[in-house]
Amino acid sequence: MSASPTPPLRALLRRMPKAELHLHIEGSLEPELIFRLAARNGVELPYADVQALRAAYAFTDLQSFLDLYYAGASVLLKEEDFFDMAWAYFERAAADNVVHAEIFFDPQTHTARGVPLAAVIHGLAHACRRAHAEFGIGSALILCFLRHLTEDEALATLEEALPHRQHFIGVGLDSSERGHPPEKFARVFARARELGLHCVAHAGEEGPAAYIETALDLLQVERIDHGVRCTESPALVQRLAQQRVPLTVCPLSNVKLCVYPDLAAHPLPTLLDAGLCVTVNSDDPAYFGGYVVDNFLALFEAHPHLGLAQARQLALNSFEASFASDARKARWRRELEAVIERLAT
Ligand code: HPA
Ligand code: ZN
Repeated sequence: MSASPTPPLRALLRRMPKAELHLHIEGSLEPELIFRLAARNGVELPYADVQALRAAYAFTDLQSFLDLYYAGASVLLKEEDFFDMAWAYFERAAADNVVHAEIFFDPQTHTARGVPLAAVIHGLAHACRRAHAEFGIGSALILCFLRHLTEDEALATLEEALPHRQHFIGVGLDSSERGHPPEKFARVFARARELGLHCVAHAGEEGPAAYIETALDLLQVERIDHGVRCTESPALVQRLAQQRVPLTVCPLSNVKLCVYPDLAAHPLPTLLDAGLCVTVNSDDPAYFGGYVVDNFLALFEAHPHLGLAQARQLALNSFEASFASDARKARWRRELEAVIERLAT
């Protein structure tokens, strides 16, 4: 069964303040911008036009998406390209009432093509500063290691990024999950912890529940990105609930990459009911059919028992799971209650 959320609930999902904690900035690159940057930089694309590129967005699994995602990122060469990409995301985030975004970026995707790391980080950091000035959106960058590459390459990337340490708050782990377990990156995460960086990792998206446990126990991550396959281990679900380990869940992504056949089969509502700190996020919005409010609306449409209480809890979870200060979290909670009250009267 599915039914459109009532107009007041739709208004709440859009207007409530929220933090977005699982967003790959390279996954926010819309086809129109890909073509604009390709023309600007003289990069040839193997697609005739925007329509042809969009038509290729029919994925069967994570790898089939990653192949296109890395091809799309090939148009990013200069600092202003990274700025333009991030600025376009912040415009969408402002419309969705995102008050805070913790944004993943994949340095190795760019440095492997000869793009200087400084161009990547300075372009993104410039957009973050402007988003704060123009929209009041707070943000932070999280540097992700590509797990299909070696740990030595991840270690070299971390060292190369250290001159830019003030521009990122943490490290993450993304790309092809199966066959690349968290333990492969134990040393580089230990080094990141030593440097005082926050640690998160994708786990339990396509990989087994065991990867969630090793990400927690061996990498000592503070959040799990995706984590939905925890449902295969009742003991793990209980642990995640008890320890309030945040899961940054991405409903539309999971359907587009065939983790679930449809949103009705998505376990987020069950995990929320079980007391886990689950949050709603967009992952790669340009590729998966929507930004964060689109994810909320589609999820609530597919699960008609979700209402105001769950919307409120999901917003609260996003604040709790963020790496922002307690003072800012308290302010967002007050803003959330004010929005709920305004919409109720
Ligand atoms: N999973 C793994 N790696 C990624 C993803 C994802 O959903 N998006 C971008 N890189
Ligand atoms: Zn992701």
